[in-house]
Amino acid sequence: MLELKTPSDFEKIDEILKECEYKKTNLITILQKVQAIYRYLPQEAIEYIGNKIDGLSPATVWGVATFYAQFSLEPKGKYEIKVCDGTACHVRGSMPVLEAIKNKLPMEKGKMTTSDGLFSVETVSCLGACSLAPAVVINGKVYPKMTPDAVLIIIDTLMKENE
Ligand code: FES
Repeated sequence: MLELKTPSDFEKIDEILKECEYKKTNLITILQKVQAIYRYLPQEAIEYIGNKIDGLSPATVWGVATFYAQFSLEPKGKYEIKVCDGTACHVRGSMPVLEAIKNKLPMEKGKMTTSDGLFSVETVSCLGACSLAPAVVINGKVYPKMTPDAVLIIIDTLMKENE
């Protein structure tokens, strides 16, 4: 996992800040770009950005990051599993699919990522692919008409690829 410890670790963030002209009106874009690199928003990055942009503070940046669901304050797994729990998917069995995933990938209470950093799991609202319900998305790829058995096969395959 990428970490932010030494000054050179912050070079990528400096580049993003420069690209976005250190403007507080570009804060969302800045956070999106930082999250694209680290797969989450490290606390050190939030503090750094808050101290670098005029008119902002770490507390304000923290407030923005926690307000928007698109931002994650905890590291995401190599594989980001999103289980749709919109109405169509819920009615067609998304919860048994989610249960199967959670039983297969035990996580510490309150965490969404496995301790080996391989998988993170979350539910999302309608993905706009209701005819494929119940739908699961893994790293942007849509898996249609999921069943508990099918999703477990996919997870097993990904685990084997990472042994
Ligand atoms: S409800 Fe799941 S894709 Fe629409």
